[in-house]
Amino acid sequence: MSSLSSFASKPFNSILQCCLFLVLIGAVSAQLSSTFYSGTCPNVLSTIQSAVQSAVGSGSRMGASLLRLHFHDCFATGCDGSILLNDTANFTGEKTAIPNVNSVRGYDVIDTIKSQVENICPGIVSCADIVAVAARDSVVALGGPSWTVPLGRRDSTTASLTLANSDIPAPFLNITELLRSFSNKGFSPQEMVALSGAHTIGQARCTTFPTRIYNETNINSTFATSLQANCPRNGGDDNLSPLDRTSSTTFDNAYFTNLLSLEGVLHTDQELFNGNGTGTTDSFVSSYSSSSSTFFTDFSDAMVKMGNVPGVELEEPCLVMLPCQTERT
Ligand code: HEM
Ligand SMILES: *[C@@H]1O[C@H](CO)[C@@H](O)[C@H](O)[C@H]1NC(C)=O
Ligand SMILES: *[C@@H]1O[C@H](CO)[C@@H](O)[C@H](O)[C@H]1NC(C)=O
Ligand SMILES: *[C@@H]1O[C@H](CO)[C@@H](O)[C@H](O)[C@H]1NC(C)=O
Ligand SMILES: *[C@@H]1O[C@H](CO)[C@@H](O)[C@H](O)[C@H]1NC(C)=O
Ligand SMILES: *[C@@H]1O[C@H](CO)[C@@H](O)[C@H](O)[C@H]1NC(C)=O
Ligand SMILES: *[C@@H]1O[C@H](CO)[C@@H](O)[C@H](O)[C@H]1NC(C)=O
Repeated sequence: MSSLSSFASKPFNSILQCCLFLVLIGAVSAQLSSTFYSGTCPNVLSTIQSAVQSAVGSGSRMGASLLRLHFHDCFATGCDGSILLNDTANFTGEKTAIPNVNSVRGYDVIDTIKSQVENICPGIVSCADIVAVAARDSVVALGGPSWTVPLGRRDSTTASLTLANSDIPAPFLNITELLRSFSNKGFSPQEMVALSGAHTIGQARCTTFPTRIYNETNINSTFATSLQANCPRNGGDDNLSPLDRTSSTTFDNAYFTNLLSLEGVLHTDQELFNGNGTGTTDSFVSSYSSSSSTFFTDFSDAMVKMGNVPGVELEEPCLVMLPCQTERT
């Protein structure tokens, strides 16, 4: 112990610091715990919550964007903050992956929170944990359920453009492909439906659903016509439509009632319910449409599980003390 403390008192570079940290917390780093920061940064949760409330207060869509940021972080290489990394001359991250580019928002909100957290407890809290807590606080800020977020994720020094492209589901997948995508991350069909209920908040660009509104038949025609008015056949690719026609700034179960009336916006949304009794996930959609409390419970449980999606160990993970978007060494 004396040799360790004399070593720790010397100046050392961030790589050694990272390795030392790994030695010290190595035993617990694999197992997340909701009390991970209670000794080292007791005010971290209230700091993140205030910042999220403020960001969502200035524009409710940010709540949706922060929830999606966590999903896209976790599905590519596990919840390791890899999605936050900016590209540099020598490094290509996940931001330019097809599901993320010109689409994922909220990076700067996470950096703002990170700097506030660094002010109260420097070098303690990972960017990946901030993203996970911000996702929960966003759902709560928009009227949805709360859950306890297990903590102690480490930030990756690397990222994978390839895995971001392959593992984050695309909006043109069919139900079989969707089930496979989520099953690859350990989710059951019911958990997949619950997580998809996240589309009860937020917006989608026209470019993500042209076939749905112009060529599909299992869509309410009045609804299709109204989406077509905002999304012409040519142009308007970046125009936005709410993913939940009725209440896109409130986290409720209206997404599922929409699906029952064939008013899913994305092809993948309506794939969860085909309306003729043959769909393997139809019963879950019906159940969540009739009980928001069942949806809230299952969504919360599935979010905790999503926060545990295992990473691919590309490299030793590090604890980041820089802005979350800065290259990590
Ligand atoms: C089931 C497979 C899924 C597909 C194919 C999918 C696809 C999409 C697409 C295409 C958009 C619009 C993006 C844009 O316009 O650029 C979107 C938005 C969104 N997604 Fe998903 N998503 C899925 C599951 C999820 C899950 C599991 C979550 C979170 C738990 C989630 C949360 C969101 C949110 C909140 C938005 C709105 C974001 C905003 O307004 O900034 N999605 N999704
Ligand atoms: C990129 O790599 C080159 C050679 O390895 C190095 O000289 C340069 O400083 C690096 N640039 C950045 C922005 O890291
Ligand atoms: C889903 O897409 C795959 C190809 O990716 C295709 O083989 C399969 O038949 C499709 N399934 C359904 C139910 O349409
Ligand atoms: C709709 O289907 C037609 C005929 O198959 C095709 O030419 C067109 O590109 C499709 N439009 C969209 C928006 O998918
Ligand atoms: C489509 O939606 C409109 C408006 O909400 C509704 O009046 C109509 O009954 C729906 N049509 C079908 C076939 O569900
Ligand atoms: C049920 O609906 C799906 C999608 O809307 C369609 O592909 C399928 O052919 C329908 N099955 C029956 C038996 O009508
Ligand atoms: C990352 O990139 C974004 C967008 O290009 C920029 O606004 C931000 O300042 C960058 N952050 C860092 C820490 O490099």
